[in-house]
Amino acid sequence: MTKTPSNVTTRREFLKDTGCLAAASALAGVALPAVHAASSDLIQVALIGCGGRGTGAAVNALRTKTGPMKLVAMGDVFEERLQGSLGQLRRDQSLAPQVDVPPERRFAGFDAYKKAMDCLKPGDIAIFASPPAFRWVHFTYAIQKGLHVFMEKPVTVDGPTSKRMLALGEEATKKNLKVGVGLMSRHSRALAELAKRVHDGEIGEIILQRGYRMHGPIGYFSSLPKPPGVSELLYQIQRFHSFLWASGGNYSDFYIHIIDHLGWMKNEWPVKAQALGGRHYRQSPEGITYVDQNLDVYAVEYTYADGTKFDFDGRCMTGCLDQYSSYLHGTKGMAIASRSGDCGMPSAIFTGQTAKRSAMTWESKVDPAEADPYQNEWEDLMKAIRNDQPYNEVRHGVEASLVTSMGRMAAHTGQEITFEDMLNCEHEMAPGLDQLTKDSPAPLVADANGRYPVPNPGINRNREY
Ligand SMILES: NC(=O)c1ccc[n+]([C@@H]2O[C@H](COP(=O)([O-])OP(=O)(O)OC[C@H]3O[C@@H](n4cnc5c(N)ncnc54)[C@H](O)[C@@H]3O)[C@@H](O)[C@H]2O)c1
Repeated sequence: MTKTPSNVTTRREFLKDTGCLAAASALAGVALPAVHAASSDLIQVALIGCGGRGTGAAVNALRTKTGPMKLVAMGDVFEERLQGSLGQLRRDQSLAPQVDVPPERRFAGFDAYKKAMDCLKPGDIAIFASPPAFRWVHFTYAIQKGLHVFMEKPVTVDGPTSKRMLALGEEATKKNLKVGVGLMSRHSRALAELAKRVHDGEIGEIILQRGYRMHGPIGYFSSLPKPPGVSELLYQIQRFHSFLWASGGNYSDFYIHIIDHLGWMKNEWPVKAQALGGRHYRQSPEGITYVDQNLDVYAVEYTYADGTKFDFDGRCMTGCLDQYSSYLHGTKGMAIASRSGDCGMPSAIFTGQTAKRSAMTWESKVDPAEADPYQNEWEDLMKAIRNDQPYNEVRHGVEASLVTSMGRMAAHTGQEITFEDMLNCEHEMAPGLDQLTKDSPAPLVADANGRYPVPNPGINRNREY
């Protein structure tokens, strides 16, 4: 029988009140080490994972308005990614004075994360924007070092690492460390206003939710066989969207935001999922077989504890209808949550079940200073750090990651998967990542044709490959 996950139930009221999931300190009233900084104190930042989002997060960090900030160290597996990111940050004249990363604080390799964090003092901040498989490894070290953290989503891709991250999240709270997770929808002021209105009953009881992310292939959605001259391990890490162990595949990486904010609107997480998925195009235009593990269509039916359905459609295909938005239907009307993209404004409420302008009763209006949820999530984190307020989004990040993985696993196995099934699934896709060196074998082994195991729904029922 499907049960509501107990950890979700206990958080429902809390979700309702804050929407932003700052967990209360388990040690309220107990003297904690002074790892927070006054508004005049310089807070130093280290960036670990210097790709597109990591660079963006560093920009957001340096632009926060609560006090002085400096980027002092960078770490990446690939030296050239680090150099590219540093160059980009330095070229921005408005940020350059805050970018203080001399050669001796630039680190490449699998231990770069440690060396970059070693440049910080307790109360500084580490940014994690590598592929998600490494979150628990990097987070473990940050907690040891007494560092606050901003980590990108997803934060886990499987059951065992989710349990590990939940435990680490609690440890961080006990050490009075603040942790932000890059589920920026939760910091969209438009979605916060919509959530309040929905929770206050403005569209009645929710009877259906719909989410879509359908567009052409992007990122490392598909991959051709590994070329010579690069190791299997580095190939898989670089093209992380193609490999389930590294990212949860395109399903987890691309679809988590809409799944997350629709869960927020419902004020709980779905308890189970069933799903369809398929791969129509396995050949590149040159006729070479793609070797990644992704399906190019996913249709997932999530179910909440009260039976309400949430349908999510994901597609990476050119030439088809593109749709990237989210909706809620209630007994008294409907709402657009994200109009376009992961959490694109404006949100709106309508009478009836059609989003007609003439039926619109509310549309979000957001102060331009708070229009960017990526900046808001940093302002919110920094306020908590500067004012020493409880702030830990890890549990929320893990739950959103698990609900996303639950839909993915349902499609990949062809089974109904509950939240508990996902949490307790023993398939750790890449054990031992904390011991990784450049000479380690890759977590996924290719066959003689350079192909990796793909999901076989109905055949592999308990694990995704
Ligand atoms: N919140 C959002 O809207 C959003 C948007 C984009 C990406 N992301 C997330 O950010 C993360 C990074 O995505 P991206 O698009 O920037 O990818 P990217 O490939 O541009 O960057 C990832 C970087 O991490 C580095 N890296 C890999 N393994 C590492 C390790 N063990 N230690 C240190 N560095 C390592 C890579 O070399 C690369 O430079 C992903 O988890 C992704 O889901 C979030």
